[in-house]
Amino acid sequence: TTKTEVKCDKEMEELIKRLPQHNCRWLKGTFILYKYQDFWCLENVLKEIISAQQSFKARSNDVFLCSYPKSGTTWLKALVFSIITRENFVKSMSPLLTTLPHDCIPSIGRANLHQIQQYQNKSCFTTPISTHIPHHSLPESILTSNCKMVYIYRNMKDVIVSYYHFVREMSKLSMEDAPFEEAFDEFYHGISYFGSYVNHILGYRKASLERPKMFHLIKYEDMKSNPTNNVKRLAEFIGHPFTIEEEKAGVIENIIKLCSFENLSNLEVNKSGSSKIFPVGNRLYFRKAEVGDWKNYFTDEMSEKIDKLIDEKLSGTGLVL
Ligand code: A3P
Repeated sequence: TTKTEVKCDKEMEELIKRLPQHNCRWLKGTFILYKYQDFWCLENVLKEIISAQQSFKARSNDVFLCSYPKSGTTWLKALVFSIITRENFVKSMSPLLTTLPHDCIPSIGRANLHQIQQYQNKSCFTTPISTHIPHHSLPESILTSNCKMVYIYRNMKDVIVSYYHFVREMSKLSMEDAPFEEAFDEFYHGISYFGSYVNHILGYRKASLERPKMFHLIKYEDMKSNPTNNVKRLAEFIGHPFTIEEEKAGVIENIIKLCSFENLSNLEVNKSGSSKIFPVGNRLYFRKAEVGDWKNYFTDEMSEKIDKLIDEKLSGTGLVL
């Protein structure tokens, strides 16, 4: 499918109806994906993406936080939000204490265009906007505006396990009713929400080589093992570097603590709240946040299959998953 002009809801419905469909068997018919521009997506999200492709206008101070689902989006949003608003709120008043990070920074595909435009109009300096859209399908104005982009990525095996639980819980199925082996198999074949993970990474990596100054790649595991350095570099990249005084006063450490899994996952809003924009329980975004949880789910054969895939597709890229 090429980028298509859709003039009304009916045309949108018809366009989507013509796309290849996949009914995820392991999710017992609760999850239907549509293949659009070489990636799989849910219908409602796809509608927002197509609208954005037609009408979204990037602005020069927008910073795009890009990621494949389950690779650290929530964390990245919390960190960026805290970095850019650190002078607006005293520590005990951060909106993050009462708001899901996804509701602090809008996503193309999750929020509608009107909501994103309103948010762009309100912001004056750095305007972070997030998206899971693969690089090749980003709205044209993002590609031509030369905006900064942050891309977070994560160990593929942990992404698979995280995805499995998220989608299974979205579909309200128990682990017995939603076999991990089947989820693995679909993911391995690139049939998952936002398509092949490896292709997603490769798309952003290629773009980062073409515009190195405008890109900042972060690995989830590096953020975990060395948050201070990584938060510092992130703040510099998005144009909000910490001053020496701030460093001495422990501002970086305070942001790391505020955005930590331990803190966010224990807040009432994230334990029992639900987002108005994308109505799944907020707790689904905070599961375990452990590096290497895949070992509790993978057979040796699954692990070897992923190792081989990564070796075939990513060797020579310098990216270690
Ligand atoms: P697990 O399912 O392995 O626990 P995304 O935000 O892209 O949807 O990714 C969700 C994953 O990030 C989940 O992984 C979730 O627990 C983890 N996560 C959420 N908040 C986090 C935080 N503040 N720090 C580290 N990891 C976090």
